[in-house]
Amino acid sequence: MKRVHKWIVILLAFLLMANGVIYTAFADHDDHEGRKQHRKRERKHSEYNGKGNLSAVNNPTYQENCGACHFAYQPELLPSGSWDKILKSSGDHFGETIDLDTESKDIIAKYLKTNAADYSSAKLSAKIMKCIGNQIPQRITGISYIQRKHHEISQDVIKRKSIGSLSNCLACHTTAEKGIYSDNNVKIPK
Ligand code: HEC
Ligand code: HEC
Repeated sequence: MKRVHKWIVILLAFLLMANGVIYTAFADHDDHEGRKQHRKRERKHSEYNGKGNLSAVNNPTYQENCGACHFAYQPELLPSGSWDKILKSSGDHFGETIDLDTESKDIIAKYLKTNAADYSSAKLSAKIMKCIGNQIPQRITGISYIQRKHHEISQDVIKRKSIGSLSNCLACHTTAEKGIYSDNNVKIPK
């Protein structure tokens, strides 16, 4: 009786192992399919929600001319109407004058317009568009969504020599040039 018992145990163990091998083989297949499905779903999801980061500025004319006095803001931070307004009032740009030849102005206008928040699939652009409604702000820092995100930062901090103004995104957002404004990449300088 004892011997028979032992053999049954061995047989059962063998069957379980074999079953395990077969199961793994099938599971691998399923898992592969599953991952493909998952990736598909993820892609759909991100399309629905918009892309996470803004596109880095990739227009040299814009970078050179509009990045001369301050950080070259991504076009996706304002709607095309705002960029239009800013370019039309380049003679009085927040107390400064922007000198632009006609050719550069055309290149910049086209770049800003085609990449503006209203043409972007970025989540941040969608939030900005939703927040401003019919307004055509000339400042990113004037948008209430942006103001809300920064309301905990005191004026004393913003007035630090290393920052100066909330318009100086790059001072605190270490990855601003890459179009990444996530709060994980913020470091307020002393
Ligand atoms: C001669 C210097 C100068 C140049 C060149 C310049 N700007 Fe500015 N810009 C300023 C100043 C000064 C401010 C106000 C910054 C502040 O309040 O801290 C400003 C602010 C801005 C703001 C608002 C930032 C905010 O607070 O949200 C935008 C947008 C902007 N500029 C876009 C542009 C664009 C587009 C160009 C190129 C066509 C350009 N700037 C070129 C000086 C300049
Ligand atoms: C004085 C430092 C400072 C400056 C300058 C600054 N930010 Fe921020 N920003 C922060 C901090 C800190 C947070 C995180 C707030 C929080 O915890 O939600 C933040 C949050 C944000 C968020 C929300 C991020 C998220 O994941 O929810 C956006 C978008 C943003 N900033 C954009 C900008 C832009 C655009 C500029 C320039 C026009 C700018 N910031 C200038 C410090 C700064």
